[in-house]
Amino acid sequence: MKICCIGAGYVGGPTMAMIAHKSDKHIVTVVDINQARIDAWNSDTLPIFEPGLDEIVKQARGKNLFFSTEVDTAIREADIIFISVNTPTKTYGMGVGRAADLTFIEKCARQIAAVAEDDKIVVEKSTLPVRTAASIKRILEANSNGRNFQILSNPEFLAEGTAVSDLENPDRVLIGGDQTPAGLEAIQTLVDVYAEWVPREKILTTNLWSSELSKLTANAFLAQRISSINAISALCEATGANVDEVAHAVGTDSRIGPKFLKSSVGFGGSCFQKDILNLVYLCEHFGLPEVAKYWNGVIEMNDYQKRRFGSRVISSMFNTVAGKKIAVLGFAFKKDTNDTRESAAIYVCKDLLGENAELTIYDPEVSESQIRYDLDLSAEDTSVTVCDDAYTATKDAHAILILTEWDEFKALDFQRIHDGMELPAFLFDGRNLLDLEALRKIGFEATGIGQGE
Ligand code: NAD
Ligand code: UGA
Repeated sequence: MKICCIGAGYVGGPTMAMIAHKSDKHIVTVVDINQARIDAWNSDTLPIFEPGLDEIVKQARGKNLFFSTEVDTAIREADIIFISVNTPTKTYGMGVGRAADLTFIEKCARQIAAVAEDDKIVVEKSTLPVRTAASIKRILEANSNGRNFQILSNPEFLAEGTAVSDLENPDRVLIGGDQTPAGLEAIQTLVDVYAEWVPREKILTTNLWSSELSKLTANAFLAQRISSINAISALCEATGANVDEVAHAVGTDSRIGPKFLKSSVGFGGSCFQKDILNLVYLCEHFGLPEVAKYWNGVIEMNDYQKRRFGSRVISSMFNTVAGKKIAVLGFAFKKDTNDTRESAAIYVCKDLLGENAELTIYDPEVSESQIRYDLDLSAEDTSVTVCDDAYTATKDAHAILILTEWDEFKALDFQRIHDGMELPAFLFDGRNLLDLEALRKIGFEATGIGQGE
């Protein structure tokens, strides 16, 4: 089978690397219009940091896994074409700030229609509004010239930081397609690709719309759990309850379960907010304002949580952070990734910079240029210093903010850090990562999320 994937991003790269790694029967070509990204995929320094990814890419690259900017050639030669391009929230026009921007998807569909010379299976890998397959089908069929295009939906459920293990042992693979003989045949072709390593009972097949909607729903449910526990974290702070204890007690109910109940400074990442906004927009579009309002609450609670954290920092530090040095440990939206898209750290840092704080930021994987870009700062701006390690970042600081749960922060010598700080030394643990009791014994004024007095 010749497989092409349009879009060499966080999803296209790792997913295709896994397919190639698991079966040398398939020749997999990942294409992108971004030359620098393709060059990085072909180099020793991959464009994304993901534990375990280097090994599987290096094992397959050049044998049955290729990265290229030759989009037309790859489309022409492929039997199966995955579309894994970005689907950001619209920044203009109708549905601005909520609907998904499908420009990149439509462009891919038109390019496939223009270039393909024979029958193709076209797979939606990107996360899309329900019924997008109908639009893709119309574009392809309007230009079919006798060629047969089958559209499948195969949303991706990997999480960043654990992409390789998620791909290797997925909870499920979801494939939706037309329930016609040709549609069912296309579904079976894709099932066979995954069945090389995924147990057959974990490969779910549905109609197109169920598959598209299941992806948005899964992300909405996951984000909803975080907003639910974050809402309770505010009540914990007001009442003296401890949110970790509450989450544990609640999560041991087998009907609720323990995962995704970790309160935090707010969820980030490129997808939760975008996909829920998309769901909200779809509900409004289909005349369901009550349903739209219900899901929008998940976003509102997350915005509240991010603002609430910054406000707590300022009020604890005698209501002013102007001219104070605040060390930020962690900038990525979660540990084990260099991705900063929608990271809560961006919002917290911007709020503090708005109060004229001076920030020293350290993240093990995020580059200085990325941090400056995310904070809209020029290279000359001195309000932010990006450091190479946590000790430099915290030297002479008035406060420390833990904004990403990197494991290495747990192993820091906090006595040494405390000795180098201005007193009183504040520590705000936005991830409830550290032992606050032990930090208080050293002399820190340490608080976490939802940790009542
Ligand atoms: P990304 O921005 O990292 O990658 C998308 C790539 O597509 C970019 O490199 C871009 O240059 C390329 N591209 C855009 N238009 C193109 C075109 N016409 N031709 C060739 N290349 C083109 O995005 P991502 O994080 O990989 O996400 C892709 C999709 O997968 C989104 O819909 C997202 O919601 C979904 N998703 C993402 C994750 C995740 O963890 N990031 C997980 C599950 C699903
Ligand atoms: C999420 C989903 O988990 C994936 O299944 C999905 O494929 C992906 O979105 C997507 O569609 O893009 P991801 O955003 O990579 O994956 O990472 P998560 O582990 O879900 O974390 C998202 C955010 O929630 C992070 O900021 C994380 O720190 C936060 N989080 C997570 C919490 O605050 N508490 C938790 O208990 C779990």
